[in-house]
This record gives sequence, C-alpha cells and structure tokens, in this order.
Amino acid sequence: MKLERVLPYVKTLLKSSVSPGDIVIDGTAGNGHDTLFLAELVGSNGHVYAFDVQQTAVEATLLRVSEWQESVSVIHSGHELIANYVSKEISAAVFNLGYLPGADHSIITQPQTTIKAIESCLDLLTVGGLIILVVYHGHEGGATERDVLLNYVSSLPQSFVHVLKYEFVNQQNHPPFVLVIEKMKYKR
Ligand SMILES: C[S@@+](CC[C@H](N)C(=O)[O-])C[C@H]1O[C@@H](n2cnc3c(N)ncnc32)[C@H](O)[C@@H]1O
Repeated sequence: MKLERVLPYVKTLLKSSVSPGDIVIDGTAGNGHDTLFLAELVGSNGHVYAFDVQQTAVEATLLRVSEWQESVSVIHSGHELIANYVSKEISAAVFNLGYLPGADHSIITQPQTTIKAIESCLDLLTVGGLIILVVYHGHEGGATERDVLLNYVSSLPQSFVHVLKYEFVNQQNHPPFVLVIEKMKYKR
C-alpha cells in the first residue's frame, strides 16, 4: 500500500520535524503512545510536555515513559493552560482529539479549549514547526468539534501558516483525518 494510513502519517510528520534536543508538546497524553514516541525523538537532551485532564491518563502515560522521567513532564491539566507551563520554543505539538479508549467516553476534547491550545502552540512554535491534530469525529460531540476546528484553521492567514487536511474520502464509519499546521513566519 502506497498511501500512508493516518497514524503512520502522523509519525512520519513528527520524525520530519522533531530533532534530538527539541522541546515538544503532546496535548492529549491519553495512554502515552505519542508521548513515548516524542520522548524517543527528542532524546535525553530534549523535553516533552504532555497534558491530560484525566488522572488515569496521567498514570498510564507516566508508566509508559518511565524510562524517560528526566525528559518528560506529564501534566494533569487541560491543554488550554499550556501557556502556564511551557515558555520555550517548541518544534512540534500533537493532539489526538476525542475520548480515551477504554475510559469514560463522555470525557472528550472540546472545540473552544482545543482552539485555545492551538493558539498557545502557535505562539510557542518555531518557524517551520508543525502542529498536528488527529480529528476523530464519529463520537457524540465529535462532528461539532470537527466543524468548529475546520472553520478556525481555514481562517488562519496563509502568510502566517499553511494548513493541510489529510483524509481518506471513501472509507466507512467516520475515519479520523489529520490537520497539519506549519508555521511560516513569526508574526501573523
Ligand atoms: C484520543 S485520546 C488521546 C490518545 C493518546 N494520544 C494516546 O496515545 O493514547 C484523547 C485524550 O484527550 C484528553 N483530553 C480531553 N480534554 C482535554 C483537555 N482539555 N486537555 C488535555 N487533554 C484532554 C482525554 O482525557 C483523552 O485522554
């Protein structure tokens, strides 16, 4: 198969934009898969800030990154408060929207807090850096978040950021798609 699936594509993008020593953000730690992947990319001289609102996600992520304690901060807080915790330049941020598989499906990411988090990441992002969002939209509330987000990213000025939507258009059951925001210059 030549067309990369959505999640492998996210990894390809992260590999292309994150280098050893970088500072990066996982906006939705969940079970910590992306946090671990990022920790391995930035290495012991870099740092990953991972956020989640659920204690169970924080614990699962801490367990998964136990070998990377020095270079990962798992923060029990909403990503809308990123600016309170991160002040250094980042090379990438990743968000997997929706609910935590195996946990309470009513705890989902919300459009306004997701946008606030993206705005904070846009301030922190280096030119050439990426914000990657995996948009799940089959669950209750997912379609609203999808539509609000698409409206928001479509309105970002082209001279400031380029926005890509990577989506398979003939698959059943609301497959997730990826939004990628690449920062092109420091100021809007
Ligand atoms: C699809 S899961 C993330 C999966 C994760 N990337 C992984 O590798 O397992 C979405 C996560 O977002 C979290 N979440 C919901 N609202 C949030 C918020 N405002 N800030 C941070 N995390 C939030 C949920 O608790 C859930 O764990």
